[in-house]
Amino acid sequence: MTTDLAPELCRPERNSGCSLDELTRALGELLDGEPTEAKGAAVADLLRQYASCEDSWRPYVTFREDTYSRNLIWRTDQFELLLLGWGAGHESPIHDHAGQECWMAVLEGELEEVHFKEGDIAPDGAAGGLRSGRVKAFPTGGVAYIHDDIALHLIRPRAGKRGVSLHLYSSPIDTCRKFCPETGQPESVHVAYHTVRGASCDGTDPALIRDAWTR
Ligand code: SIN
Repeated sequence: MTTDLAPELCRPERNSGCSLDELTRALGELLDGEPTEAKGAAVADLLRQYASCEDSWRPYVTFREDTYSRNLIWRTDQFELLLLGWGAGHESPIHDHAGQECWMAVLEGELEEVHFKEGDIAPDGAAGGLRSGRVKAFPTGGVAYIHDDIALHLIRPRAGKRGVSLHLYSSPIDTCRKFCPETGQPESVHVAYHTVRGASCDGTDPALIRDAWTR
């Protein structure tokens, strides 16, 4: 573990009384080894169950004026679990998932997912634009799933209200591509966290957190 990271951002011991920790333990057991369809369905069931009857996530979510917040709950080599806090009017960029699987459970409010497909690249190398696909609303307790063979997507809260969602990426995503909505031009971007287990890490080099949490 690096010595440069503030102690509150280092990986805490699990607390057996916390149901978020129970969830991460169960997810770790499930995601061990090769992904299968049965495992994918079991992951969705765990998240659905958590979303429908738990509010142990509340101390860890934050809201910002400028953008939706990304709050790390747990991270291993196999997966990362994040809480996203969405203000009214916030929207993720249109992005891919770097070849990883992604589940999203809505914990508060209603979130909308819009699918996109990349157009063909022109002979001169120019991006081929984006085709928008289905738009689907997920109420509190709803679970969505995506990977790159399905679509690119964007997420936003519905009806001018805020929302909270729990995202599971397997494996963790440190870099992905975001797409210009007008031209479809992709850009590789590093993704970061705003908090780690409730402690602010704004301005901390994301690589330090990844080193401390990926074991
Ligand atoms: C994000 O992780 O920042 C966006 C939400 C998602 O891809 O599910």
